Amino acid sequence: MMKDLAFTINGNAVMVRIDPHTLLLDVLRETLDLTGTKRGCGEGECGACTVVVDGEAVNSCIYPAWKVEGCNVLTVEGLGSREEVHPLQESFLEKGAVQCGFCTPGMLMSAYALLQKTREPDEKVIKKALAGNLCRCTGYKKIIEAVKDAAGKQNKL
Ligand code: FES
Ligand code: FES
Repeated sequence: MMKDLAFTINGNAVMVRIDPHTLLLDVLRETLDLTGTKRGCGEGECGACTVVVDGEAVNSCIYPAWKVEGCNVLTVEGLGSREEVHPLQESFLEKGAVQCGFCTPGMLMSAYALLQKTREPDEKVIKKALAGNLCRCTGYKKIIEAVKDAAGKQNKL
């Protein structure tokens, strides 16, 4: 039986009809056409599908959609725009932390959740926060640098 699901996505209230077994990633990509969130492994292993639900980074490919009822969901589309780039996006570009870019939306969302909780994360803390996000291209060094750099920028705001 289909169910109504109401939640906030990137600051906008939405209501969608879902099958109770639907996963959050499918609602985002298929129903809401928010394709910035990527499907990698589909098994909770790579982090490409990471979004932020009420401040926590989650793997949307294994996250039941019904769990976001009444929640605030943030995807990469809500992080920044071309006109107003988020400090994390800016630092990722400046530090060369984006190569093929497939892991980037997920990395950004995990990093965002971290920076909401920790103002000055050291390398160890950043590595731990990004441990579930796999990147085939960068070797992680530049990604970690970018997150540190963005934390510095945010602290100056
Ligand atoms: S696609 Fe969700 S963890 Fe890989
Ligand atoms: S930049 Fe290609 S997978 Fe990370």
